[in-house]
Amino acid sequence: MSGLLQSSITSLPLIARGKVRDMYAVGDDKLLIVATDRISAFDVILDNPVPGKGAVLTSLTEFWLKKLAHIVPNHSTDVRPEDVVTPDERDQVVGRAMVVKRLKPVMVEAVARGYLIGSGWKDYQASGAVCGITLPAGLQQASRLPQPIFTPAAKAEVGAHDENVDFAHVVREVGQAMAEQIRDITLRLYAEASDYAATKGIIIADTKFEFGLDDVGQLHLMDEVLTPDSSRFWPADGYTEGTSPPSFDKQFVRDWLETQVWDKTPPAPRLPADVIEKTAAKYHEALTRLTA
Ligand SMILES: Nc1ncnc2c1ncn2[C@@H]1O[C@H](COP(=O)(O)OP(=O)(O)OP(=O)(O)O)[C@@H](O)[C@H]1O
Ligand SMILES: [Mg+2]
Repeated sequence: MSGLLQSSITSLPLIARGKVRDMYAVGDDKLLIVATDRISAFDVILDNPVPGKGAVLTSLTEFWLKKLAHIVPNHSTDVRPEDVVTPDERDQVVGRAMVVKRLKPVMVEAVARGYLIGSGWKDYQASGAVCGITLPAGLQQASRLPQPIFTPAAKAEVGAHDENVDFAHVVREVGQAMAEQIRDITLRLYAEASDYAATKGIIIADTKFEFGLDDVGQLHLMDEVLTPDSSRFWPADGYTEGTSPPSFDKQFVRDWLETQVWDKTPPAPRLPADVIEKTAAKYHEALTRLTA
């Protein structure tokens, strides 16, 4: 398996290429989102694809969108990707693409955290708080929080890193009512998903949701949902407070990159074949464990 680094659908107008997904217009109210096998780490797109990754991201997103549909409307449609491209382009979309409602993105990354890791752990060590939420003293790396918290981030410009912000920043961005709605929905989605994942032996340490508005201003869940790219999944049996747990996400790639001499700007070092293989296996394992 070689993996798809970039799609080339010429029968539809290309809207944008993100770090992982290529977006095409389908009429004026829908998008074809193709999840490629690109992998990014530290916000840099790597030169190697991870075969099978795009299909895993799409399957997991579809699984969660269905499971969580009772909490908030989402961008799904029942249009099949195979039906909006030409026959010779079908190979590029089968199993890895979705046709979705084209929404106006809310410019906030809606992050929920149940555990203290990553930028949350860094912020806590520096200030005792994350996104303006003061936490109890004495927490360790990967500690479970007394209760899950909403820790929004500002969507960064291309090439920059997302930045944690406080709730007041979200209020300034979208208004009080919408900010509260986004926070409450984010925490409900996280609570339900993490309860479910726990029954499969997986801890969802944190996750990021994106929301968008339709043409009447109704809030929708969009983008990818609860994938290894947008979340930290930890096998529950490998969890120990005080250490960075092994994970199903690209922490594996990040860990390898951390052993390299690299300043985290493009180009990134090329991944060795065994790191690619093990990463592909991790993505598959996340899918099978969560959806089996
Ligand atoms: N239904 C939708 N309507 C409009 N935009 C969407 C929808 N679903 C996802 N998107 C956007 O499509 C893009 C998906 O591409 P990808 O995840 O690869 O981007 P990214 O590199 O993460 O970029 P960004 O930092 O903008 O999220 C994101 O910008 C996301 O906000
Ligand atoms: Mg994205």
